[in-house]
Amino acid sequence: MNHPAASEIQAMAWAGVGKAAPHESAQLHVLGQATYTDDIPEMQGTLHAALGLSSKPHAKLAAIDLAPVLASQGVVAAYLAKDIPGVNDCGPIIHDDPILADGKVEYVGQPIFIVVADTHDNARRAAKRAAITYDELPAILTPQAAKAAASYVLPPMHLKRGDFQSAYDAAPRKLKSTLYVGGQEQFYLEGQIAYAIPKEANGMHVYCSTQHPSEMQHVIAHALHLHSHHVLVECRRMGGGFGGKESQSALWAACAAIAAKKLNRPVKLRADRDDDMLVTGKRHCFYYEYEVGYDDEGRILGAKVDMVSRAGFSADLSGPVATRAVCHFDNAYYLSAADIRACCGKTNTQSNTAFRGFGGPQGAIAIENIIDEIARDVGKDALDVRKLNFYGKHDRNVTPYGQVVEDNVIHELAAQLEASSDYRARRAAVNAYNASSEVLKKGLAFTPVKFGIAFNVTHLNQAGALVHVYVDGSILVNHGGTEMGQGINTKVAQVVAHELGRDLSHVRVTATDTSKVSNTSATAASTGADLNGKAAQDAAGQIRARLAQFAASLHGGSAGQVQFYDDKVHVNGHAIPFTELVQAAYLARVQLWSDGFYSTPGLSWDPKTMTGHPFFYYAYGAAVAEVVVDTLTGEWKLLRADMLYDAGNSLNPAIDIGQVEGAFIQGMGWLTTEELWWNAGGKLMTHAPSTYKIPGVSDCPQDLRCNLFDNRNVADSIHRSKAVGEPPLLLPFSVFFAIRDAVSAVANHRINPPLNAPATSESILKAIAAVTGAMK
Ligand code: MTE
Ligand code: HPA
Ligand code: MOS
Repeated sequence: MNHPAASEIQAMAWAGVGKAAPHESAQLHVLGQATYTDDIPEMQGTLHAALGLSSKPHAKLAAIDLAPVLASQGVVAAYLAKDIPGVNDCGPIIHDDPILADGKVEYVGQPIFIVVADTHDNARRAAKRAAITYDELPAILTPQAAKAAASYVLPPMHLKRGDFQSAYDAAPRKLKSTLYVGGQEQFYLEGQIAYAIPKEANGMHVYCSTQHPSEMQHVIAHALHLHSHHVLVECRRMGGGFGGKESQSALWAACAAIAAKKLNRPVKLRADRDDDMLVTGKRHCFYYEYEVGYDDEGRILGAKVDMVSRAGFSADLSGPVATRAVCHFDNAYYLSAADIRACCGKTNTQSNTAFRGFGGPQGAIAIENIIDEIARDVGKDALDVRKLNFYGKHDRNVTPYGQVVEDNVIHELAAQLEASSDYRARRAAVNAYNASSEVLKKGLAFTPVKFGIAFNVTHLNQAGALVHVYVDGSILVNHGGTEMGQGINTKVAQVVAHELGRDLSHVRVTATDTSKVSNTSATAASTGADLNGKAAQDAAGQIRARLAQFAASLHGGSAGQVQFYDDKVHVNGHAIPFTELVQAAYLARVQLWSDGFYSTPGLSWDPKTMTGHPFFYYAYGAAVAEVVVDTLTGEWKLLRADMLYDAGNSLNPAIDIGQVEGAFIQGMGWLTTEELWWNAGGKLMTHAPSTYKIPGVSDCPQDLRCNLFDNRNVADSIHRSKAVGEPPLLLPFSVFFAIRDAVSAVANHRINPPLNAPATSESILKAIAAVTGAMK
C-alpha cells in the first residue's frame, strides 16, 4: 500500500508536487496536435454509422420499414434491436436502458436503428429515411407531472433528522415556497464518439471518448455476447466530459461495436451535435417545495424540502444524483431538524445523467434560496444570515446524514473573502448606486460551498496504476483515470516524478486502457486525481523502495535513509544519477515496474436510512458576485467576481485555478443563459448552440479574482491536497443571488422575487414585473 513516512521525507527534500506545471497537453492543445478519437488515422475499410431516432415521446413501434434507408446512397447495412448479438442494454446500474428501442419508444431522440455507410454524411442522410409507424401513448414531460402521476424510475428517498414538525410549529417565523432549477447540457466541445476495430478471435478494440472505459468494456462485452477479456477500450483524452461521458458514452460505444462485429469491419460512430443533444441525458432539472421555520435572527430551526428531479425515461445515474442532492441540501449550514425527500420523476425525455456536481449543486441551491428569502424577511444582509447558520467547529457539526464535519474551514475562508472582496463597502456602494439609479440596478451576493468528496457509492472509491521505469531512466505511467482537460495526467505525473525524485519532463502518461489497469471506476465525483494519484504513488513507491534497497546494497547505509531528488539518488553520502542507478539495477535484475492500488479508507453508507460516513473529506469555497441588471430589458452583466477555493495543499495551483474559474463560468451558464426547452410534442428544441446559449468570453467579468485558500487536508489525501473538479461549480450561486438581489432592489428588498433558474433575461423581466406589481 502507501508509504507515507518515506513520502513525507521526500516532500521535505523535493517539491515535485505543488508546482504550477502547465497541463501536459497544453502545447498540443493550442497547436491542434492533441489527438482526439476522431483524429486517430482510420483503418482501411472503415465504415461510418449514424442512428435513426424516434420522433415521438412515447409510442409503440407498430412498423419499421428500413428499405428506404438501405436503398440510400453508400449504405452497407442497418440494424435493429433484434440484430444485437447479446444483451440490448446500456444502463449503468439498473437494466432499463435499451441500446436500441425495442417495441416502444420513450422519448423524442431515442435511437431505434443503426445505419452503416461508406461515409459519415451518407450514414446521416440515410438515418432520416426510415418509414416508422408509431402508435402514440400519453407522455409525461415535466418532473411536476411525473410527481403528480407518481411516475418514478426509482423508489422515493427520505432522510429525516430531528423532529421537523415540532421545530417548525414552535418557530417564531416561517416560510413556505417553491423553486424550479433547470437542467443543463454538458456541451463538451468534442461530441460523443466511438471507433470500433474488430480483432482476431472475437477481439474488439474500441477507441472511445469516455470517462469510464471499464464500463464501456462491460457494456460492449454484454452487447456482443463476449467476455470482458475480448474487449479493449482505450481513451487518450476527451475534449470535455463534464459527467456527460460517465455512462452516456455507452450507447455510442455499443452501437459502433455492434456494427463492427456484424460486418467484421472497423466502424466509427461520431455524433453530430444536434443528435448528441437530442439523444443524450443532461443535468437533472429539479422542482422543490419547502417549508422552513426560523427565529428573528434568521437561524434555521427546522427545514423540510421535497424535491423531484427529471430523471428522463430510464434510471441511468438518477439514483446516486438524487442521493448527492439529499446530502448537499445542508451545504455549509447546520440543520438541527431536517426532513429531506427526493424522488426521480420518470419523464418521456432524455435519460438525465451526471453533470459536474452530480446533484450536489441541485441540493445546495435550495437551501441558498431559502437563506436568501429568510434574510429579506428578517431584514438582514444575507451574508450575516449565512454566517449565523454555518456549521460549528466543535458543536453544531453533524450533518443530517450523520457524518461529523471534522475539517470545517468555512468561517476562516468566508472571513478572508469578505475582507479581500471588500464586501461591506461594496454593499454600501451598491445601495447608494441603487438609490439614485432608476433603470439600472446593481446586486451583490456572497455564497459559500461545502462539498463532500468521494463517490457516494462506497465500492467505487478505488483505483489502480501501472508504472514502468525504463533502463534509460524515462518513466511511463498508466492509471485508471481519464483525461478530459481537468489535468489528471499532469497531477499523476507530478506525483510519480515526486516519488522518484525525477524532473517532470521524464514522466509520460499514456492513454487509459482497460488492458493495462482493469475494473476501474469512472473518472468522476472529483476523485480522479485523489484516487489515481494515490494508486500511482503506491506503484512508484514500490519501485523506489526496491531501488533504495539496491542503492544501499551498493553504497552502504540503510535503505530507509535513501532519498530521491534532483534526478539523483542520495545514498550514504553519494549522489548517483537516477539513470545510472536504474541501469545498474536492471543488470542486477531488479524489477523496475510496479502496479499500485488505492482504496479510500473509512467510508460507509446505509442507503435505507440514508446515514453513514459517505465522504472522505469536504472541500470548501466561497464567492462574491456583483451584477448590474437593466430593469427595462432584463439584460445583465457580471461586473466582478471574487472566489476563494480550498484545494488543500494544491497539487498544481495553476491547474486548480483553471478548474475553479472554468467551473464558475460553467455554473453561471447553468443558472442564467442556458435554457433547455422542449415543445409540446416533447421534442427538445434547444439542440444546438444557435438556440442553447452557453457563456462566451464576453460573459466573463472584466474583474475576476480567483485564489486558493491556504490549507492542508485533514484527511490523508494525496499530498494533503483536495479535489477541485466539481465543488467550484457551486460558486456562481453568487451570480444568481446577485441577480435576485438586483431584482429585489426594485421594491427596496421587501419582496422575494419569484425568480427561478435559469435567470434568463426573460425570466428576470417577469420577476421584475411581479415585484413591481406586488408593490402597487
Ligand atoms: N474540467 C475539464 N476541463 N473538462 C471536464 O470535462 N469535468 C469535471 C471536472 N473538471 C471536466 C473538468 C467533472 S464533472 C469531474 S467529476 C472532474 O473534472 C473529474 O476529474 P478529476 O476527478 O480528475 O478532477
Ligand atoms: N459522482 C459521480 N458519479 C457517481 C457518483 C458520484 O458521486 N456516485 C456514483 N457515481
Ligand atoms: Mo463528474 S459529474 O462526477 O463526471
